[in-house]
Amino acid sequence: MKIAVKRDVGFVEFEVDAAECTLLEALEIIKESQDASLAYSSGCRSSVCGSCAMRVNEKEVLACSYKVQDGDKVEPLKNMPHIRDLVVNMDAALEKNKKAKAWLASFNADAALTHEDEQINALQSDCILCGSCYSACPVFSVNEEFLGPFALTRVWKVVSDKREAEQKTKIDTIQTNGVWDCTLCNECTLVCPQGISSKADIEKLRAKSSQFGYMDPNFGSFGGGFDGGFGGGFDGSPQF
Ligand code: SF4
Ligand code: SF4
Ligand code: FES
Repeated sequence: MKIAVKRDVGFVEFEVDAAECTLLEALEIIKESQDASLAYSSGCRSSVCGSCAMRVNEKEVLACSYKVQDGDKVEPLKNMPHIRDLVVNMDAALEKNKKAKAWLASFNADAALTHEDEQINALQSDCILCGSCYSACPVFSVNEEFLGPFALTRVWKVVSDKREAEQKTKIDTIQTNGVWDCTLCNECTLVCPQGISSKADIEKLRAKSSQFGYMDPNFGSFGGGFDGGFGGGFDGSPQF
């Protein structure tokens, strides 16, 4: 089969005998038998470490679980600095966890978790930080400071943990470049290998933000007031 790999010089086509192989196995065959300089990242080979995320035919996949097809076009993740061939630098993306303060800030030792409590955010705990959602998110093309899907999913994991005693502080942190900057397009959900929906987590964070008195800063920017009318003020009267 033929697969095209985006390299520093552009797309390079390789002919490879890789029927029934994963994309990672195909890349290994190319590296061993055709071009030892081909660069890509990998680790566990079993969809656990998240290091082999890349894009195939413009969609994010884990190379170690994606079955390679004839004609595939393979590219590095988007929205991150490119290092070489299929390797990107995820440092700035991972730094968003720090900016979002995505950890338990104040531990309420009296609030012991039941099995039911653990189920509330068990899925979010499965994030392998592969960066696929970050790559797929269209917001970064207009706002590089957006905290992004996996960091906000982590914030939801913390906020939904009843041991967190400072929920409001967590919610305060994600008001700028956070929950309201998401377009709810759902692209992050569609590419997550762990089945996590950052979009759904962001919607829950928006609801929680409203409980703490925040509202969508874009509300009314289309000319509508609280009544949804065009050109109306808060009381529905026309504004000139
Ligand atoms: S739903 Fe929000 S976080 Fe997810 S890809 Fe769309 S804009 Fe980005
Ligand atoms: S939320 Fe899913 S797609 Fe995003 S980094 Fe975690 S595992 Fe990867
Ligand atoms: S090599 Fe670890 S997830 Fe693919």
